[in-house]
Amino acid sequence: MTLRDDPSLYGTNVNLLPIRGDDNQLIVNWRNSPRVHDNLFTKNYITIEGQEAWYVAYQSDPEQLRLIIEIKDGPVGCCGLTDIYDGSADLTIFIGEESALKRGVAGEALDLLLGYAHKIMGLHTIYAEVFADNSSAICLYISRGFLIAGMGAPRKGRKVVVLEWEA
Ligand SMILES: CC(C)(COP(=O)(O)OP(=O)(O)OC[C@H]1O[C@@H](n2cnc3c(N)ncnc32)[C@H](O)[C@@H]1OP(=O)(O)O)[C@@H](O)C(=O)NCCC(=O)NCCS
Repeated sequence: MTLRDDPSLYGTNVNLLPIRGDDNQLIVNWRNSPRVHDNLFTKNYITIEGQEAWYVAYQSDPEQLRLIIEIKDGPVGCCGLTDIYDGSADLTIFIGEESALKRGVAGEALDLLLGYAHKIMGLHTIYAEVFADNSSAICLYISRGFLIAGMGAPRKGRKVVVLEWEA
């Protein structure tokens, strides 16, 4: 049993749960909100049909782990790992609910995810690519021990910073 199937990552104020098909509409709403969409690399807004097709493919994709960030009020965002391969992976995280921003929720979610990635999945390096003007994300990652590794390829015509976390 893995975190993919078994909700078992519980923190003090935050739990990380495997995403389910029932979460698809919520994820579409969050990802298409202007604040989240503006900070993700995806150019187009996503549709529920596209999300459902993605979710079907995700079920058999061993290189991805996607989790719902939940607090006592309910689900507030997503985090996860992509391109999981040979001990490393890329990080993704967003808080979709405005009410859960700047309350340390993302920080605790990241602590749980990094701990799981290292101790359970055996990963040693996690990369995060963000727009250079995304100060909230860069501050969040640096507060969790990421170091700036360099510049990435520009996306959506904007500069990109690569950060790296070593276990
Ligand atoms: C990036 C994002 C997840 C951060 O969420 P958040 O609610 O600000 O995160 P937290 O409240 O948990 O803050 C985490 C840490 O970063 C620090 N921090 C966050 N924003 C900061 C800022 N602008 N300046 C200084 N420190 C900041 C906090 O002090 C906190 O550290 P602490 O836990 O040690 O006190 C959120 O802004 C978001 O969803 N953005 C849209 C999507 C996105 O950009 N995702 C990342 C790229 S994929």
